[in-house]
Amino acid sequence: MDERLRRPRLVGRTSELTLLGERLATASAGHATAVTIGGDAGCGRTRLLHEFLDHLPRPATALLGTCYDGSEPPVPFAPLREAFRDLPDDGADVLAPTDLLHRSRAEVFDRLVTRLERLGRVEPVVLAVEDVHLADRSMLDLLAFLVSNLRATRTLLLITWCSEKLPGTADLRPYVAGLTGDAGVTRIDLAPLCRDDLAVLLADAAGGAIDDALETACWERSEGNPCYALELLAAARAGDRADPRCPLPDTLADLMLARLDTLGCRARHVVRVAAAAGRRVDHRLLAAAAGLPAEALFAALHEAVDAQVLVPSGNGEDYRFRHALLHEAAYAQLLPGERRHILGRYAEELSGPSPARIGVPNGVPTPRLPRLTPRELQVLSLVASGDSNRDIARELFISEKTASVHVSNILAKLGAHSRTAAAATAHRLGVLR
Ligand SMILES: Nc1ncnc2c1ncn2[C@@H]1O[C@H](COP(=O)(O)OP(=O)(O)O)[C@@H](O)[C@H]1O
Ligand SMILES: [Mg+2]
Repeated sequence: MDERLRRPRLVGRTSELTLLGERLATASAGHATAVTIGGDAGCGRTRLLHEFLDHLPRPATALLGTCYDGSEPPVPFAPLREAFRDLPDDGADVLAPTDLLHRSRAEVFDRLVTRLERLGRVEPVVLAVEDVHLADRSMLDLLAFLVSNLRATRTLLLITWCSEKLPGTADLRPYVAGLTGDAGVTRIDLAPLCRDDLAVLLADAAGGAIDDALETACWERSEGNPCYALELLAAARAGDRADPRCPLPDTLADLMLARLDTLGCRARHVVRVAAAAGRRVDHRLLAAAAGLPAEALFAALHEAVDAQVLVPSGNGEDYRFRHALLHEAAYAQLLPGERRHILGRYAEELSGPSPARIGVPNGVPTPRLPRLTPRELQVLSLVASGDSNRDIARELFISEKTASVHVSNILAKLGAHSRTAAAATAHRLGVLR
């Protein structure tokens, strides 16, 4: 993060902190319990955990260990060794390498429980293990063992994990579902921040209120993810004048591109075609514009969905990009000319003999020619060429906000829910020639 930004004070997360406090009370009373804390990358799992550990609502011994990615040779149970590192040696260091060599796994696990039991006689223990999506199999097995076998100890076990499938990490959702099936385990899934909380966070980080346009851009692009929002704020303020819609900063672009790069070439193609349509795309339009045989198309779509790049919508008719920034990064990958070519295919499909009803609310085609002002027609023709609000603003010497108002009005008049649909409807109705 940019040094000119301050570390913002904690916003929101009160119900989560209350819940953690309650679980600590349960553990203190002699009923060991565990909480998993999941959420997207950058949503604030670490911040919440540290906030809790730094201000424990009752006396307890806090132990923290973190899992790191496997670039180094693995050290068995490294996160737990880190967690116990600062405790005085009570002669029962069950995680010492020599011990691990000579004892069976079951024995090591049992002795760890005994150690926690012993510590709990003095005061309750909060044992936190961060980022278990990076843990190796033996660490995961040990945590699962602890969840089921800590009953009689005064332990609160906290496990944080990334619920997004990141490149090179295992999909931990089945594992966590298995853990949280246990009666003593609570699951916290951190949601993005709401707009008000995000605005407070941004103002706090900036050291004062920020411009409305910048606040709106950070909100729309980050969708409440605090890490993304702070990166965007830093990037916007990096130039001489704050630029609300600055290009995606390298840190975030790399993050998004790493996800897109995990896809095979067909899936990447389908994702690019989808990106040209907007954040959301109808399946039928996508199928027509992608130009792939059905089996290949579905294989590519499965891949993009499994990689959590595209998400099928509840109505079973369309897909959307899982995050606005993923869409932005995929859109930015389109080559000059490619965007217009793909938009042309969408327009063809929509204006063909059996017009797709997609992009028109409730599947009802717009019944009559909408009345557009000359300015709106100008804006519409730029929308149809694939221009962003920013491009339109530059082209017509109007503010981006005015461009966005024109686009909203045009969408409403055409009864379209996306820019692509608006362009295609306009072609079909002969509004644009
Ligand atoms: N609730 C919050 N209030 C203020 N800042 C937050 C909050 N949640 C996260 N942040 C900030 O956002 C950034 C990312 O949070 P972090 O906890 O590292 O995310 P994660 O561990 O989920 O990847 C950090 O700079 C953190 O201080
Ligand atoms: Mg973290």
